[in-house]
Amino acid sequence: MRFTGKKALVTGAAGGIGQTLVRMLQAEGAQVAVTDRDTSAITAQAHFDGDLLDTGFCDALPGQVVAEMGGLDILCNNAGVITRGDITATSDEDYALTMGVNVEAPFRLCRAAIPLMAENGGGAIVNTSSCWGLRPGSNHPLYVMSKAAIASLTQCLGRDHAHQGIRVNAVCPNEVNTPMLRTGFAIRGFDPDEAVAKLNASVPIGHIAEPDEIADVILFLASDAARYMCGALVEVNGGKPVT
Ligand SMILES: NC(=O)c1ccc[n+]([C@@H]2O[C@H](COP(=O)([O-])OP(=O)(O)OC[C@H]3O[C@@H](n4cnc5c(N)ncnc54)[C@H](O)[C@@H]3O)[C@@H](O)[C@H]2O)c1
Repeated sequence: MRFTGKKALVTGAAGGIGQTLVRMLQAEGAQVAVTDRDTSAITAQAHFDGDLLDTGFCDALPGQVVAEMGGLDILCNNAGVITRGDITATSDEDYALTMGVNVEAPFRLCRAAIPLMAENGGGAIVNTSSCWGLRPGSNHPLYVMSKAAIASLTQCLGRDHAHQGIRVNAVCPNEVNTPMLRTGFAIRGFDPDEAVAKLNASVPIGHIAEPDEIADVILFLASDAARYMCGALVEVNGGKPVT
């Protein structure tokens, strides 16, 4: 019960990693506020449905969580979108969507949450980057640059706000078995189960990550066990590097 009495906000709470993360935080005692476009199917202590592309929504959200739950100790910037294709295949809309959800929303949420955490003596922010934020994979320049940006933001904030007792770190997964990955296969005409089985064979540990294998690392980074970690980018890849 590492999070008894702690109040957390999870973005992308209706997604593959998000739903698991919410359950695991609650199982260890946290009160969790969830946000996504539709959180009605999720058991949580507070629900904030909205669009992370709405800048006013992001700016106000941490304050609303404090008003409703009485505090904010942990912020998990987990929501994300993936845009595929080389640069010539990406539109202005792809750019605005990818940078808006993956970079601007966490930027705004961190900017609003940090003063509230500081007032309360500290807190932990865990961003979700990607191993592609550390080394680029091919043909996804928008996604890769957005994940590099959130990795860089994590390092900056980890350094700048440690003195306030606020730790900012990021998890950098390789492939995870979630709707983001599976719908990508389906869009490209592959059977998701067959494609995942093939992908499993490419990972030294024997399988791509399940959501709990990423959420466990997020919980660690949010917990007191990581109390000396500030600005760390933790790659979680089952032994599979980006090639
Ligand atoms: N699945 C992978 O292989 C993988 C690998 C590395 C990193 N990641 C990262 O992990 C995080 C979680 O991804 P996932 O695999 O669970 O994906 P997912 O698609 O299952 O979940 C993402 C969630 O974000 C929400 N979201 C997206 N745009 C939004 C918006 N404008 N407003 C509100 N909510 C919005 C979606 O509704 C969805 O519930 C993402 O940041 C992703 O980039 C995933």
